[in-house]
Amino acid sequence: MLVSGSGSNLQALLDAASQPAYGARIVAVGADRTGIEGLARAERAGVPYFVRRLKDHATRAEWDAALTAATAEHRPDLVVSAGFMKVLGREFLARYGGRLVNTHPALLPSFPGADGVRDALAYGAKVTGCTVHLVDDGVDTGPVIAQRAVEIRDEDHLDEGAALHERIKEVERGLLVEVVGRLARGGYRIEGPGGRRVRLREE
Ligand code: GRF
Repeated sequence: MLVSGSGSNLQALLDAASQPAYGARIVAVGADRTGIEGLARAERAGVPYFVRRLKDHATRAEWDAALTAATAEHRPDLVVSAGFMKVLGREFLARYGGRLVNTHPALLPSFPGADGVRDALAYGAKVTGCTVHLVDDGVDTGPVIAQRAVEIRDEDHLDEGAALHERIKEVERGLLVEVVGRLARGGYRIEGPGGRRVRLREE
């Protein structure tokens, strides 16, 4: 799993994966920064972790290569980016494309990018939500695996979306746990024009 922040999605997966029937195990946690709760959660769970900071590398391509190599050491079948706040590079995508999942706090293709919650609010949308999707070489543009809606309330405008983001994250954690478990246990197929339709196998 790749994280940059509080790692509550990571925690939800760690908790789920502690049950053998879940069908997936978290082999490592990677981050682009130190001092985050996400890494503390990995440490407490006894899961190996690594940090590759962009600023420690001369170029973005070198950082990309370092992150790819550090990830590959753990031989993951699936990579989950949950609140990882960097756009992944070409080498990473070449290696993990098709088995790289991201979670985004809006109903894509609406409100992609780093401010999905605030952008939905500023637009005046009445419904937003979360999207779990495969990562391609765009920003939040890959094929959608699953989505859930969350209503926007009038009072959400009072705190710039903080409470809204918390409500989204509650739903998001449940969705991510469900999707990753199904991907791991049952597998999936990518179909349809342009390879946009992700079908989870029936269990
Ligand atoms: C999630 O809402 C994710 O979609 C967004 O950042 C949040 C990460 O939360 N990009 P956490 O670090 O898992 O608590």
